[in-house]
Amino acid sequence: MVYTVTLNPAIDFVINMDNPILGAINRSENEAFYCGGKGINVSMVLKELGVKSTATGFLAGFTGKYIEETLNSKEIATDFVHLEDGYSRINVKIRSDEETDINTNGPMISDYDIHLLYKKLEELTEDDVLVLSGSAPKNVNDDIYKKILSKTAKSGALTVVDSTGKKLLNTLEFKPFLIKPNISELMDTFDTKITSLHDIEKYAIKLQTMGAKNVLVSMGEKGSVLFTDKKQVIVQSSPEGVAVNTVGAGDSMVAGFIAGYLKYHDHKPALKLATACGSATAFSQGLCTQKEIMQTLELIESK
Ligand SMILES: Nc1ncnc2c1ncn2[C@@H]1O[C@H](COP(=O)(O)OP(=O)(O)OP(=O)(O)O)[C@@H](O)[C@H]1O
Ligand SMILES: [Mg+2]
Repeated sequence: MVYTVTLNPAIDFVINMDNPILGAINRSENEAFYCGGKGINVSMVLKELGVKSTATGFLAGFTGKYIEETLNSKEIATDFVHLEDGYSRINVKIRSDEETDINTNGPMISDYDIHLLYKKLEELTEDDVLVLSGSAPKNVNDDIYKKILSKTAKSGALTVVDSTGKKLLNTLEFKPFLIKPNISELMDTFDTKITSLHDIEKYAIKLQTMGAKNVLVSMGEKGSVLFTDKKQVIVQSSPEGVAVNTVGAGDSMVAGFIAGYLKYHDHKPALKLATACGSATAFSQGLCTQKEIMQTLELIESK
């Protein structure tokens, strides 16, 4: 079973409108709700790929209930810690000629709540995959992913960390199976500028020296480079297409890599499926569907 951890899930309230003006009453053209959070996105794309997962993390209040019901209605299992106070956040995404986002804080999480999450994850076995992705709520320490991995290290589960900065670096001693920084995350993590494949290689190998087994550096429309635990470097271009919405492309890529690796036990086809998922999401309005993934995979394979 794949377990995805989302510490601060959200409902994205997407409002499409012309010309929003601050300080005035604005009218929306149309609006929609989407359940989000990086781990949840991974679970949703895994579902499209026919891979079962359980979404865990923290939920609170009426919004938390909505997120859980939505996942369950899509037949995605959930095992969240339910917080006593507060509510899971609603992020407001205003879409007009420009994109304006208001990302809110989310509920407070106590040490006891964190302890409850550890308890759930202590049950992992070597047949499981653990995906840790996204930001942590404000009052949660940067070492949360490190602590989770320290509790689960003995299980032998495959681990994936999609994070940045200290939250990523301090997990490396637990030798995560896969990390997936994009270029700007790679630059932030090492507080440096990256301008060439040579630079990417230098920092990816540094991450491997620090403990990461496979490092997948994604570059949006420019594709990705995978540095494997077998010392291979695999460059993958992105298929051509019109990008409609790139939010969640990275999460889709993570889901595709996991599904591909579980199926083929080989990096190359896993990277192809990862790319198909990432690009299929970029080419569509929300997260990719199974049909869109297969169409995009055909485009990649016909190249
Ligand atoms: N504009 C695009 N055209 C084609 N493919 C894309 C595009 N944007 C993203 N992709 C695909 O998705 C993969 C991951 O994208 P990206 O590097 O943007 O991830 P990310 O920044 O981690 O995204 P996020 O964290 O928002 O989910 C890319 O390697 C590529 O295969
Ligand atoms: Mg990302």
